[in-house]
Amino acid sequence: MIVLGIETSCDETGLAVYDSNAGLRAEALYSQVELHADYGGVVPELASRDHIRKILPLTREVLKQAGISPAQLDGVAYTSGPGLMGALLVGAAFGRTLAWALQKPGVEVHHMEAHLLAPMLDAAQQPPLPFLALLVSGGHTQLFRVDDLGVYTLLGESVDDAAGEAFDKTAKMLGLGYPGGPAVAASAAAGSAGRFRFPRPMTDRPGLDFSFSGLKTYTLNTVTRHTPLQPQDVADICLAFEEAVVDTLFIKCRRAVQETGIKHLVMAGGVSANRKLRQQLAEQLDARVYYAPNHLCTDNGAMIAYAGALRLAAGQHAPLAINTRPRWPMMELPPLQQTAP
Ligand code: KG4
Ligand code: ZN
Repeated sequence: MIVLGIETSCDETGLAVYDSNAGLRAEALYSQVELHADYGGVVPELASRDHIRKILPLTREVLKQAGISPAQLDGVAYTSGPGLMGALLVGAAFGRTLAWALQKPGVEVHHMEAHLLAPMLDAAQQPPLPFLALLVSGGHTQLFRVDDLGVYTLLGESVDDAAGEAFDKTAKMLGLGYPGGPAVAASAAAGSAGRFRFPRPMTDRPGLDFSFSGLKTYTLNTVTRHTPLQPQDVADICLAFEEAVVDTLFIKCRRAVQETGIKHLVMAGGVSANRKLRQQLAEQLDARVYYAPNHLCTDNGAMIAYAGALRLAAGQHAPLAINTRPRWPMMELPPLQQTAP
């Protein structure tokens, strides 16, 4: 089965061709980072317009790379949600229409489920069921129990900002640009350990929910107290912030492992590219941790093509309507039988 995957939920236009026999055959990604850089965050209207400009050339590019004609596709998968409404509409309208024109099934993909499945694109990264999943991106911070693919139980989530959003806002405060995660992590590498210690929010009470907005305020207060900032101050603040986020995520994962007795954890979404987070989980969590290579942690078309292929193999496809769901709880998804695509 050969599936085209289309991702346009935020600021990356991602296209890919996944083949259930041969694996990933082609990938293309256009990042709008420079377009939004002056604004310190994604401007939804600019994002939609740029997806429109890039979607067709990138589709042609991946089909060429894969060495196939559109007629050889068995389905077209596109992100239906969650994400920015206008940005989602571009991919969903294009994907649904292309599928209709080719007389092939269209598949609506849940962006966060696609993140969760991305590590499994690698045959060596197949967690046994049940497993835990930590989804950490720019819009979500969630812990799930996964009893079967498609069967998700929410164990905890952020009651305010997502972890990635906190990285982005911290970077903005410190003038480090967008996206903030990689910039804060790079600056933190020059930080002096122990100069600042930031709080680990909501770790002193039971439960698996997260909160990152207080940490943002704490960072802002530290910045204000030390302004004008020297480069070393910026690095020290970045290090303290990064350590606080990583430690908070680790503490909640450890608690989830202890409470459920499940010793396999999939970590996915942009923040799962963070080196310190990977290191702390690998060294200190009493569970095996699975994650995707960096370019498949952040938004991409490959994870959409893969999730779409699994849903298609389970006999699921989209109605003719172009549906988008900016908010879409993952627990509303139908189960995904584990038949190989
Ligand atoms: O999954 P993703 O590409 O998009 C969403 O679905 O939101 O995640 C983007 C987020 C951004 O907030 C970005 O700052 C963060 O992931 N991020 C990182 C790193 N790389 C990306 N955060 C921390 N460390 C990183 N190395
Ligand atoms: Zn994402």
